[in-house]
Amino acid sequence: MHGGSPPSPEADPSPAELIAARPHLSRHAFDGLVVEDVPLATIASALGTPTHVYSEAAIRRRYAALSAALQATRLDTQIRYAVKANDHLAILRLLGSLGAGADVVSEGELARALEAGIPAERIVFSGVGKSRHELVRALAYRIDQINVESAGELAELSRIASELGHTARVALRVNPDVDARTHAKITTGRGQDKFGIPASDIPGLYAHAATLPGIRPVGLALHIGSQVMTLAPFRESFAVLANLAEGIRAAGLPLDRLDCGGGLGVAYVNEPAPSPEGLAGALAASFRRLGLALLLEPGRWLVAHAGLLLTTVLRVKQGPERPFIVLDAGMNDLLRPALYDAWHGIVPVRPGLDEPLAPADVMGPICESADAFARRRPLPPLRSGDLVAILDTGAYGRVMASAYNARPLAAEVIVSGARWATIRSRQPLEALWADERLPGWEAASRPEAAHCRSPQIFPPGGAEAGLFSRGAGAELARPPGLAPGRGARK
Ligand code: LLP
Repeated sequence: MHGGSPPSPEADPSPAELIAARPHLSRHAFDGLVVEDVPLATIASALGTPTHVYSEAAIRRRYAALSAALQATRLDTQIRYAVKANDHLAILRLLGSLGAGADVVSEGELARALEAGIPAERIVFSGVGKSRHELVRALAYRIDQINVESAGELAELSRIASELGHTARVALRVNPDVDARTHAKITTGRGQDKFGIPASDIPGLYAHAATLPGIRPVGLALHIGSQVMTLAPFRESFAVLANLAEGIRAAGLPLDRLDCGGGLGVAYVNEPAPSPEGLAGALAASFRRLGLALLLEPGRWLVAHAGLLLTTVLRVKQGPERPFIVLDAGMNDLLRPALYDAWHGIVPVRPGLDEPLAPADVMGPICESADAFARRRPLPPLRSGDLVAILDTGAYGRVMASAYNARPLAAEVIVSGARWATIRSRQPLEALWADERLPGWEAASRPEAAHCRSPQIFPPGGAEAGLFSRGAGAELARPPGLAPGRGARK
């Protein structure tokens, strides 16, 4: 199971143990579960649920710990935050202000990083499938480095850079054929994975890159996978990288940096996890003698613990063996359990955890059996209306969300001390179809259907809109264009 998992549910950490291991969380006698100094019940009563909540202090603390561990090595190291983990502008701005650059994998992530004020000279573009358009953008913004993953991409980049009269600073991404011993769906450094260039092809391709117009090879890159829970795979892949770098330099080619990727795992289950000091030690042992600049692309390690998904128990339904706790958050809000069998802590928000724990299945409301957050999870008794926090959702949480089952995207909140701010409002129902259009022939043959071309079927503030967004069960006047029988028309 991904993210580490206890050998049996009996070994699951209790809600109290989960809270104790997360410094930004505490439980108060009257307020219940509190993030920094803000009770989660306050946020829920103001904004409703499901809502993603982030702790600014938790992100600052993790960034400071990673920087301190890297600085202690006295190596030239730079953090390029992997934007995919959580791309909210407020998070990017915070990390940028702390000194982080960005590792981006799409034009959208590049635009977000720039919009958040992260300078182009601190941005790396990774990814196995960059479009021509994305390469043009990366060059136009003169970002720091493009990580190239194939001979074909290198040739295309050379052509584009020459056309534009730019020079691309390129690192070749090595596939070191190392198994990161993590979930198969997020392992990226084995020979059979689609990522990177086989180590045996690197020396020749690097030499070739040095001859290409518009290309300046500056180093090598790798990323072996995510949620890597031991240091051994890092050490193994760093050894491959160090060997290749030495060979390239011995051949008289310029090489001044190594991009060591992300992947540092976090303790979702309070299990032992590799420390930033451990990673820094592995970097120093592998690369000190080379005297190169080292880039790191951490995502999860910086932001996972900082986030939680605040949700409400809709229903407690007795199953054959234990209760189903049905939440108002689903796999559309947090996909990791459904996609990777990931384990996330689940903690009731209400005060007091003294009641005995009993196993329960914690489910979302979506029409798929995959929509399950936990099975046989020891929890105190829960009732309909209780608030619950799903922990450690700051990385790969909201970014992987969808509106499946026409469920609007959840709100997002950031907490800093006793302050909190809504950093994304809950998606309004109308936004679900705001970009949709009926095909022209439908509108032409049935003029009233042209209403659907308007982004707002329900006028703002109209009676229907109010009823819809409050989710009331009242009978509604049907809006034009949604008349019965529409689907049956030929
Ligand atoms: N650099 C590259 C090139 C990557 O592909 C990734 C993650 C990272 C850095 C950051 O890795 P991190 O430090 O966050 O482990 N959705 C999955 C994780 C996918 C990670 C993909 N690449 C999950 O929820 O577990």
